[in-house]
Amino acid sequence: MATQTTATVLTGQNQQKTVESLQRNLLDLLNLGLQLKQVHWNLRGPHFRPVHLQLDEIVADARDASDEVAERIATLGEPADGRAATIAENSTLDAVPEGLIRDEDGVSLMCDRLVAVSSRLRAAIDTTDKTDQVTQDLLIGICGKLEKHMWMLRSQLE
Ligand SMILES: [Fe+2]
Repeated sequence: MATQTTATVLTGQNQQKTVESLQRNLLDLLNLGLQLKQVHWNLRGPHFRPVHLQLDEIVADARDASDEVAERIATLGEPADGRAATIAENSTLDAVPEGLIRDEDGVSLMCDRLVAVSSRLRAAIDTTDKTDQVTQDLLIGICGKLEKHMWMLRSQLE
């Protein structure tokens, strides 16, 4: 096993709670990216093309966000766990259905997932207010982007 060589910037409870918050959100962000792709590929319906393209824009932000979150964990001196088995076991997102999906159902489904991810991010924003405001700043930026995507998806359902 590799020895830990990264100097920690946080200590004790602050370190532990911050890393736990980041790790929980890492799994949901990774799962969100996978689910978005699943829907992106399997859409059917008259709005296929705009929704297909829109979902890929969210994938790009979800993947960037998961990379930033994993690297923040590394910066804090801990290993990030983004393995498929860990995502399957511990992500809190409901699974997306197998098979083809109507365009408006895909929009609604991904809107629900963005609500769930944002609400978990907001819980972590609260936690990190006390434990690490640099991490909190990162999470606020991610949450802002995802909430904007949520608005853009939801607007199509009204
Ligand atoms: Fe594609």
